[in-house]
Amino acid sequence: MEDWSECLDVAVQIAQRAGQVVQSAVKQEKRVSSKSTPTDLVTEADHQVEELIISTLREKYPSHRFIGEESSAAGVKCELTDSPTWIIDPIDGTCNFVHSFPMVAVSIGFAVRKELEFGVIYHCFDGMLYTARKGHGAFCNGVRLHVSKEKDVSKALILTEIGAKRDPATLDIFLGNMKKLLSAPTHGVRIIGSSTLALCHIAGGAAEAYYQYGLHCWDIAAAAVIIREAGGCVIDTTGGPLDLMSRRVVAAGTREIADYVVKQLQPINYGRDDSEPDALA
Ligand code: IPD
Ligand code: CA
Ligand code: CA
Repeated sequence: MEDWSECLDVAVQIAQRAGQVVQSAVKQEKRVSSKSTPTDLVTEADHQVEELIISTLREKYPSHRFIGEESSAAGVKCELTDSPTWIIDPIDGTCNFVHSFPMVAVSIGFAVRKELEFGVIYHCFDGMLYTARKGHGAFCNGVRLHVSKEKDVSKALILTEIGAKRDPATLDIFLGNMKKLLSAPTHGVRIIGSSTLALCHIAGGAAEAYYQYGLHCWDIAAAAVIIREAGGCVIDTTGGPLDLMSRRVVAAGTREIADYVVKQLQPINYGRDDSEPDALA
């Protein structure tokens, strides 16, 4: 079996370097524009950081493939093949970054033969480094991570994020899903504005479940390995296996809580990351 630990070390170094670029960019004036919808923001820093990560990795691993959020937005096909593939979100939480709201991360996942091998997520504001390699556990700054073992949903804290669609029909479904989970009753529902960091909180046991429609493969790739290696489950919103390109996910510390969340959800259709053209109608 191939050992991808050297690639993981490189991912850690580049994520931390990228994080430093984000830290200095947050203090400067930002040029903000929008992509698929007026609330889907992008800044010069998003492009700069993605370019830094991909050019560094491509030089080291010329035969590898790359999926990056901003490259995809620029028209590069988002395709997961059997080749070693890096899946990159240069700045997760761009809206937070624009407001200097301190929940912003760099996320780098790595897949081979469509299987996730490792993930690195670097919290740019507080220096927390989340890492995991398949079969070797999940860590935050070197300390082993464990998910919550809670099975009782009435004791659960649930996290979610709003996708880019904000039309009234989509928002009604979004709020309906949230209402069901609030009235379970659970302890509460939180939205922090960064899918990757919310998912890291599932890995660390600070919350019991996460669900979202409208995220992308670069929001979930690294985090999925980290949660699984911390003992949790990451599945489709239908209860089946995770499909990285499906733009939907349920993650939880226990299968019991994941199944409960799955049963409450009314779906929101976002199309797929690997469909052409991007299905954000
Ligand atoms: C977004 C954030 C947001 C989530 C979106 C993501 P971005 O990522 O994680 O919290 O609701 O679905 O696309 O655009 O800031 O990288
Ligand atoms: Ca993101
Ligand atoms: Ca991003």
